[in-house]
Amino acid sequence: MSKKLKLGVFGLGSVGQGFYELLDQSKNPNLEIKKIVIKNPTKTRTIESSIFSTTPTDILDDPEIDIVVELIDDATIALEILKQSLQRRKPVVTANKKMLAGNLEEIYWLQKKYETPVLYEGAVCGSIPIIRNLEMHYAYDRLESFEGIFNGSTNYILTKMIDEKINYDKALDQAQKLGFAESDPTLDVKGYDAKYKLAITIAHSFGCFVKPDHMLNIGIDKISAHDIRYAKRQGCAIKLIAKAEKIGNKIFGIVAPTLVPLENPLASVKNEFNAINLVGASTGLQMLTGKGAGSLPTGLVVLADVASLLAEFKYSYPKVIPGNPVTFEKDALINVHVSFVTPGAIHPTDFEEFTGGYQGEDAHFMTGWMRIKKLEEWVDRDDLSIMVNDDTHFKVYEPKKEREFSLA
Ligand SMILES: NC(=O)c1ccc[n+]([C@@H]2O[C@H](COP(=O)([O-])OP(=O)(O)OC[C@H]3O[C@@H](n4cnc5c(N)ncnc54)[C@H](OP(=O)(O)O)[C@@H]3O)[C@@H](O)[C@H]2O)c1
Repeated sequence: MSKKLKLGVFGLGSVGQGFYELLDQSKNPNLEIKKIVIKNPTKTRTIESSIFSTTPTDILDDPEIDIVVELIDDATIALEILKQSLQRRKPVVTANKKMLAGNLEEIYWLQKKYETPVLYEGAVCGSIPIIRNLEMHYAYDRLESFEGIFNGSTNYILTKMIDEKINYDKALDQAQKLGFAESDPTLDVKGYDAKYKLAITIAHSFGCFVKPDHMLNIGIDKISAHDIRYAKRQGCAIKLIAKAEKIGNKIFGIVAPTLVPLENPLASVKNEFNAINLVGASTGLQMLTGKGAGSLPTGLVVLADVASLLAEFKYSYPKVIPGNPVTFEKDALINVHVSFVTPGAIHPTDFEEFTGGYQGEDAHFMTGWMRIKKLEEWVDRDDLSIMVNDDTHFKVYEPKKEREFSLA
C-alpha cells in the first residue's frame, strides 16, 4: 500500500478533530481525507462543508476511499461500519474500545477472512503505544502480569480529590470540560472503560479473548474522605487499576480502586496520564506512561496507525496460538479493604481469609481475601467502598473441603 491513500472518516468529535488537525499539520502528501461522515448536519464546524456527509455509504461504497477511520461514540454502529469496511477490503483504524472489547475474537477472525487489517492503538491508554509494543517488543517474552492506570478521566478525578481536595462532582465536571471523559461518564467512573481496555490488552498479552462482561469492574464513585485519609496513613495512593495475571494456564483480571504503595511508580502517575507496569519472564518489570486521553494525544496515535498502513503494518497477534490452553478464569481470591458506615454491614465470615478490621466512631473497615464472586454481589451496594490492596497477587480459589463426619 505505497500509493497515495484516500481516507473516509466517521466522527469529528474530540478524537476526530485532533486527528484532522494533526493530519492537516503533517502535510503528508500520501494521506488525504476525502469524506467525513457525522451525525448532526446542523452543528457548526470549522471545516469546509462539502467534505461532510451523514450517509455512511458515501464512504463505504466509494471505491476511491482506501481506509476507514472510525471515531464515533456508538459501539453498535461502529461495529457495523467495521464489518462493512472489511467486507469491502478497506482497512480500518478505530479508537472504539467498547466495540473492540466486546467483539475482539470475531474481529480477529474477520481480519483473517478478508485479509484486511484493523488497527486500534488509540483504544488503549491514549498516546501510549502499548498494543504495538505487545505485538513487537513483547512478542517473544512470556508475560506474567500487567497492571495499569487505563482511564485518564478517573485518574484526573482521583488526583484532584486527593491532592487538591476538590470534591468528586467538581472534579468530574472538569474532566468532562477538558475532553478526557467519555460522552457517558459512568463508563469512566464505574470502571467499564478501563475494563474494555483490559480485555483488549489481555488478548495481546496472553492470547486469550475474554468478553468484558466476564470480568469484575468496581468504580471510584464510592471512594470516601475516610478512604483517602486511610490511604495517606498507609503510605498509599488510590488509583483505578486494571490488572491481569497468568497463573498456570489461567488468566485472572479485575478493574478496581486500588491502594497503591507510594514506592510503586504507578502511584506518582497523575491527572489524565495513564501508565502500565508489565512483568515479563525475560524483561522483568517495565513501565510505559503517557497521556491517556484527549483530542491530540489520541488523535496522534490514530494518525500513526493510519500512516503505518502505508507501510502495510498489521497486527499478528503473536500470543494467539491455535490450541493454546490459556483461558480466562473469573473467580479467584483477591485481597481487599472494605469500608462502611453502618456497623454490622459486613461480617468477617464474608471473607475467605479475614486479616483485620477497625470499628471507630464514624468509620469502619475490614480487610482480607475475598472471592471475586462475592465482591460481585457487593459491587452495587451504596454502603460499601471496596479497594484492592495492590501489594498482593491473585490467588486461585479452591473451595474449602467439607468436613467429613463419621458416626464410628
Ligand atoms: N476522547 C478521548 O480522549 C478518547 C480516547 C481514546 C478513545 N476514544 C474513543 O474514540 C471514539 C470517539 O470519541 P470522542 O471522544 O471523539 O467522541 P465525541 O467527542 O463524543 O464525538 C463523537 C463523534 O461521533 C459522531 N457520531 C456519533 N454517531 C455517529 C453516527 N452514527 N454516524 C456518524 N457519526 C457519528 C458525532 O457526530 P456529530 O459531530 O455530528 O455529533 C461526533 O462527531 C470513542 O469510541 C471513544 O471511546 C476517545
